[in-house]
Amino acid sequence: MSANRPAAVVVLAAGEGTRMKSTTPKVLHALCGRSLVGHVVAASRELSPEHLVVVVGHAREQVSAHLAEIDAEVRTAVQHEQNGTGHAVRMGLEELSNSGVALDGTVIVVCGDTPLLTGETLQRLAAAHADDGNAVTVLSAEVPDATGYGRIVRDDATGAVTAIVEHKDATATQRAIREINSGVFAFDAQLLTDALGKVRTDNSQGEEYLTDVLGILREAGHRVGACVAADHREIVGINNRVQLAEANRLLNDRLLERAMLSGVTVVDPATTWVDVTVTFEPDSLVHPGTQLLGATHLATRAEVGPNSRLTDTAVGQGAVVAFTVAEGAEIGPGASVGPYAYLRPGSRLGAKAKAGTYVEMKNATIGEGTKVPHLSYVGDATIGEHTNIGAASVFVNYDGVNKHHTTIGSHCRTGADNMLVAPVTIGDGAYTAAGSVITKDVPPGSLAVARGQQRNIEGWVARKRPGSAAARAAEAARREGEGQQ
Ligand code: UD1
Ligand code: CA
Repeated sequence: MSANRPAAVVVLAAGEGTRMKSTTPKVLHALCGRSLVGHVVAASRELSPEHLVVVVGHAREQVSAHLAEIDAEVRTAVQHEQNGTGHAVRMGLEELSNSGVALDGTVIVVCGDTPLLTGETLQRLAAAHADDGNAVTVLSAEVPDATGYGRIVRDDATGAVTAIVEHKDATATQRAIREINSGVFAFDAQLLTDALGKVRTDNSQGEEYLTDVLGILREAGHRVGACVAADHREIVGINNRVQLAEANRLLNDRLLERAMLSGVTVVDPATTWVDVTVTFEPDSLVHPGTQLLGATHLATRAEVGPNSRLTDTAVGQGAVVAFTVAEGAEIGPGASVGPYAYLRPGSRLGAKAKAGTYVEMKNATIGEGTKVPHLSYVGDATIGEHTNIGAASVFVNYDGVNKHHTTIGSHCRTGADNMLVAPVTIGDGAYTAAGSVITKDVPPGSLAVARGQQRNIEGWVARKRPGSAAARAAEAARREGEGQQ
């Protein structure tokens, strides 16, 4: 639990985000496996606020549905028209008071489009706000390029914060200021509510600016402060897809750095991409060109890549996965996957099992030490332990209407180029001949042969293709055979 537990966090997410040029609302764009607003909600949760309200407006049904999915406890407040950040906060607070919540203490305001903001920085802001006894504390940052941001105006003599001036309303002198408003604030709840009632719209955008609250409170004699963010990159707001890509890179770097410091070898961080939900054990290793997504987990000494994409996949201790696409798969300890394998949902490989080159699997469980080494499709199957599936085999699981299951026992040897037509069962220790189409169950320990008998028609080439290169080669071979006799 946070030492400075706020009464509420209000997340502003009503804007359209026109600069994204997208049919998806801005705050639902994703990086590292989580939406922009999802990152902000997750960071806010680290403060354990009594209430968490997200102000929605543009595409609000879509945004609200997403919020309900990621965090059942989030409340939403509707801002029907986007009349500015001050108006948006007012809508958030009204939603709470309308449902009988009397706020007492600190209200934190965060923008829904700043996904790199950490819970740690929010804690620092809340702590500074409480320690300094401020009416409002703005999270500011020194940035190399302040274009577009609100500037923090300080008193020349004392250095005290006096106002925030929006870029569009700033004078040339003010535009030279490089300390900017991150859009994140800590407020005294009561003073915020009172001051929001006094915010006017006589500015270049005709909006109620939240930033005006700061000047209003200061003029009324209240303490106003700023807490400077340790790393300005944390507060970048996403307005277009260039910024989205930059933020993705920064967050990815942060996640990889954490992984490396915990003992994971990342051979090439520049071409390795991970989601926030991915977990690693020390001494796992990631080769270049690898994407690890969703709930993917690498156990100790697991080795993944190069050029692989694993989604919601668990890789066991010491397993090796190369040039592979896997989704919803479980790869046992010491197992080997790829190069060039495709594991679809429900693929479960036991310890030391193998899914080799050009092997596709789906909804299939293969036991310890069982190998599917080459060019095969294994769909809807259960295979026991230490069985070998011959090269170029297909588990024929679909009759055009229904899917059927194939069961193969332990210590079996199926021949190369088998079609296993489901539903079918092969007993323990059974063999099948190469080129077989297996349509009937095979009892344990039997050899099943299911293919046409070979017939050789002697002299066919000489009769049907006289004078051809094949005929000449055959004739030469015949003479040589005679000479040897
Ligand atoms: C705002 C700040 C600026 C700060 C910058 C940081 C104001 C007036 N300006 O500018 O000082 O430097 O953020 O990124 O506060 N929103 C609503 N309803 C509205 C308007 C906005 O919910 O009516 C939401 C948006 O969805 C967004 C956030 O508030 O998540 C910020 O709005 P945006 O228009 O991006 O503000 P900026 O112009 O970037
Ligand atoms: Ca704006």
